[in-house]
Amino acid sequence: MDYKIVNGTIVTATDTYRADVGIKNGKVVQIAKKIKESAGEVIDAKGLYVLPGGIDIHTHLDMPFMGSFSSDDFETGTIAAAFGGTTSLVDFAIQGKRMSLKGTLNTWMKKARKKAVIDYGFHVAITDLNDRVMNEIPEMVAMGVPSFKCFLAYKGALMIDDGALYRILQKTKKAGALVMIHAENGDVLDILINDLLAQGKTEPKYHALSRPPEAEAEATGRGIAIAQMAGAPIYIVHLTCKEALAKVKEARDAGFPVLAETCPQYLLKSYQNYLEPGFQGAKYVMSPPLRDKSNWDVLWKGLAYGDLQVVSTDHCPFNFKGQKDKGKKNFALIPNGAPGIEHRIMLLFHEGVNKKKIGLNRFVELVSTAPAKLFGLFPQKGTVAVGTDADLVLFDPKAPFKITAKTHHQNVDYTPYEGFTGKGVPKTVFSNGQIIVNDGKFLGKPGTGRFLKRRPFRLTA
Ligand code: URP
Ligand code: ZN
Ligand code: ZN
Repeated sequence: MDYKIVNGTIVTATDTYRADVGIKNGKVVQIAKKIKESAGEVIDAKGLYVLPGGIDIHTHLDMPFMGSFSSDDFETGTIAAAFGGTTSLVDFAIQGKRMSLKGTLNTWMKKARKKAVIDYGFHVAITDLNDRVMNEIPEMVAMGVPSFKCFLAYKGALMIDDGALYRILQKTKKAGALVMIHAENGDVLDILINDLLAQGKTEPKYHALSRPPEAEAEATGRGIAIAQMAGAPIYIVHLTCKEALAKVKEARDAGFPVLAETCPQYLLKSYQNYLEPGFQGAKYVMSPPLRDKSNWDVLWKGLAYGDLQVVSTDHCPFNFKGQKDKGKKNFALIPNGAPGIEHRIMLLFHEGVNKKKIGLNRFVELVSTAPAKLFGLFPQKGTVAVGTDADLVLFDPKAPFKITAKTHHQNVDYTPYEGFTGKGVPKTVFSNGQIIVNDGKFLGKPGTGRFLKRRPFRLTA
């Protein structure tokens, strides 16, 4: 056996127990109260949790968007993820106009191949539907891409219309794929944005005021209704507010397969951040925008009670200097997105588990097990069990942390969480049986991350 982790406490989505873990050839090969067999290296995990590696199913690395590229590529972004205890991610390959889905996937494969230090998969975002693209949907599923994103916002760029969404859902239902929607009413937002700009309202806070919760709730409800008409499941990405959550709950209570995620920024940051002095509010320009604080408690309860299934990051970093500042005179030119890939697990553990808003096993479910199940990676990933990939995090629940852009590994000149303190740090991170992070040192190698050919979508995984 290559490694033996002794004295740790294994935590999965269902159980918390003391046991040793044996690793060989990249896999977990034994779990027992005491493993007798010798190992190349014995790691004492006393006082540590042994968690399944985090899975972030919503990232944008090296993504062309609003005249810029997101500032983390697959090397810097996956290194930052690893420091934060995330060992798999699923990124969005965005179809350009007139591009095929295969061509799109190839483009993103090339971005990742020699750079990723953790395993990665892709969703394809369909932005230009035609018959050829429709035929490619089952081919994508066969190639290990069983999820597609549709934008109901970003009019004139990524947005598709309701008819296209319906056609895609008809096809994905048969092909065994899950459609993920960015739910905001792009037509109305376009008018709101132009009206505000015409009135000379150009500061970052108008980004939020041009994208009200009603626009998110309307598109969430519409997307769900279109999915119901097609008889297909649907997944709502980056849900931010009580109005949209109410639409999800209503559909779930009526028995429809509606799934949704939120992100740490919507649990911890608010509209008030847009009012920070100078142009600082631009750091929080993302879509949908940060909401009123009254939404925090509703979202935490959604996570605790099961109405929301996943916490992802929507990591889409743009530097404050040189990228965000393109919108100094016009909020609509600020590239939308913010960093977060490195801090998802620490933030959710500290704010959720330490502050008793969610339980320890639910935390594991939200950051690892549920994303693995919904996105075709379970049980290879998402739990600690014999036969699974040895993607493991030795997590110190007592270790303090302070988040700052001065020391983070994300390739971006700020963090929305500057100065945030808490307890709970990934101490040692294994990817496929190799230690890639240990005590704040990176030990991995670019190009060792593998493409994850994911299984078709099954609601009952
Ligand atoms: O502002 C955001 N969220 N940027 C990334 C693209 C998206 O909509 O997910
Ligand atoms: Zn989106
Ligand atoms: Zn996104």
